[in-house]
Order: sequence, then C-alpha cells, then structure tokens
Amino acid sequence: EKGGYEHYMLKEIHEQPQALRQAVAGRIDPIEERVDLDLSLSRSFLDDLDEIQLVACGTSYHACLYGKQLLETLADVRATVEYASEYTVGSGRDPSRTLVVGVSQSGETADTLRALRMAKRTGIRTLGVTNTVGSTVARECDDALYIQAGPEIGVAATKTFASQVVTLAMLALDVADTRGELDPAQGRELLSNLQDLPGAVQQALDRDEAVREVAEAYAGGEAFFFIGRRFATPVALEGALKLKEISYDHAEGFPAGELKHGPLALVTEATPVLAVLTDGARPEETQNNVKEVQSRGAPVIAIASESGREGDYEVGFDVPDLGLLEPLAANVYLQLFAYYVADSKARPIDRPRNLAKSVTVE
Ligand code: M6R
Repeated sequence: EKGGYEHYMLKEIHEQPQALRQAVAGRIDPIEERVDLDLSLSRSFLDDLDEIQLVACGTSYHACLYGKQLLETLADVRATVEYASEYTVGSGRDPSRTLVVGVSQSGETADTLRALRMAKRTGIRTLGVTNTVGSTVARECDDALYIQAGPEIGVAATKTFASQVVTLAMLALDVADTRGELDPAQGRELLSNLQDLPGAVQQALDRDEAVREVAEAYAGGEAFFFIGRRFATPVALEGALKLKEISYDHAEGFPAGELKHGPLALVTEATPVLAVLTDGARPEETQNNVKEVQSRGAPVIAIASESGREGDYEVGFDVPDLGLLEPLAANVYLQLFAYYVADSKARPIDRPRNLAKSVTVE
C-alpha cells in the first residue's frame, strides 16, 4: 500500500503533483479566468469585510502564513494569522465584518476547534479548510472548503501543506474577484502559476536522488537553519518543522532578516543553512544574509529561482519561474531533505516519537 516506497511520507511527497491537480479540479474556469469555490459568502459580506483571521496549528499554521500574504496581495483585505491555541477574538472587532478561516488537515485538531467555536459564539462567520470530508471542522463551520489531497498517513504533513496553500490561493482569487479588487494581470498570472505548479513540483521530485546525496552529506550538522523572506518565510518555517519532527535534529526557521537580530550567534561551520531564494521574496536581500552565514563558515544549500540564482552557494537546487507559488515548489526540496536526513539516521519516519497525526487534546 506504500506503492513501492519505503515510507508513506516519501509516497505522499511524490503524490504532490496529483494532489495539486485534484485541489484545483473543477474549480478553475480557464475561459472566464475565474475560480468557483461554491461558498455561501455573499458579495455584500465580502465587500464590507474588515478582516480575515486565519487560525491553525503546526504545518497548517504555516499554510495560513502563506495564505495571509496571498489574501493581502490579491484581495486588499486585512488578514491576520494566529496559532489556534492562542486565539482570542481580540478587541475592537466587529463580528459581522470578520471572517475566521480554520485550516486543519484532519479537521479534528482540538485547538483549532476551540478557536472556531469561540469565533462562532461571538457571532463571527467561520470557514473550515480541511482534507477530511465530514470532519468536525467541516460540520461545524458555516462553510467547508475541501483541499482534495487524498488520505495522508505519515504523521509529517507534506502533500496537504501544498494543497492547503493552493486552496488558500484560490480563496484569495475568489475573495479578490468578488470584492472587485482583482488586478486582471495578477489574477491571470496566479491562475497560470496554479496550472504550472504540478509540473514544477515534478521537476523537484525528479531530483530526489540528488537531494538524498546532499542530505546524507550534511546529516551530521549540529543544527539546521532555514531562511526565506516574504512568501518564502512560511516555507522556511515549514522546512525546519519537518526536519525536527522526523529526524529529531535541532532545526529552526527564520525570516532571513531576523538572523542578525539573534540567531546568527548560533551559526558555525557545523550548522548548515538552507536558504529559499524565490521571486517575490526579495532574493537579493536574502543573498546578503547568505553571505553573513557563509562568512561564519556555515555551508549554504540554496533553493533558488532565476532571480536568486546568482550567488555562490555550496549546494544549489533550481526552482522554475512560478511567481508567487515558487516557494511551494522550493518546499519539495526541503521535504526531501528532511526525509533523507531522517532516513540516514534510521528514524521511524511515519510515526515519530511523541507525536500523533491528529492532536485531539488541547
Ligand atoms: O490536522 P491539522 O492540520 O489540524 O494538524 C495540525 C498539526 O498538528 C500538524 O500540521 C502537525 O504540525 C504535523 N505533524 C506537521 O507535520
């Protein structure tokens, strides 16, 4: 049932092109250049909206950080992200002009359910983004939006992260269009990026063997740091979470600009740095951060699209041009890196110690 793969996680990483095609299936009208998500959000509600609050945990939280930037870039609406476990409605909000979006692969995460219920009690409209049909999140929210990724067995979330981000990208397009805020050129570009994404992810997957070699070469690192900017920041955080979760190595992700405000003190020749240098993520500035860590002796594994490729890196992997979705293609290299570091240490990859696929206690 693992389809010839040693672990579900590797199988699910490789299922991403298919999952991404399923995520958009039947939802993009290429002729009209529109998305249709079949939600009950009315035009007047969206027009009057003050804020979209995104709530989630773990990997789903990282998808929300990406979604926030897509919503703000496309739909000109204020979007905020909170850990579900930290959520409060907050002061100064008009419940009738707020939308809470709860993102949960399982649809059963206790913290996320608590936040959604709190919002609902206050009279806020809720939208659940989930992979699981009939889950508690889907049943309790005013609207359910399925990411259509298919079952995910590995405790580490992989394909569902990609599908969540793509679903939030479609939500951003839909909200932008309904509010009359969608810049046609920007909308067209994102739609074409969505169509090209499965192919770009496949290109990264085709480098599986090369990533394995790099992972094995660097697996002895004392700690691993992941950096990115803007749209690449959520992916840097996600790369670090994946690595710590399955390899038990210390890993941290930062917005690249934060490095010199503290974390740089930890950087040595024994701490590989994985840098995501993609479009829309101000790669020139991240290149300066790359130089900062290299001058402390740290080896840099760069995952770069054309605009970020010029630097001098110890290792480099290419991401094709894909506009705002480039970090999603870059993320595939980080998933494979985490997988092969963990595999080289013979970790129980699909069932890491102390963790559960679905966390149903607060
Ligand atoms: O089912 P959910 O998306 O609500 O789960 C949230 C987190 O527990 C989950 O993403 C967790 O962080 C993953 N194990 C990360 O790989």
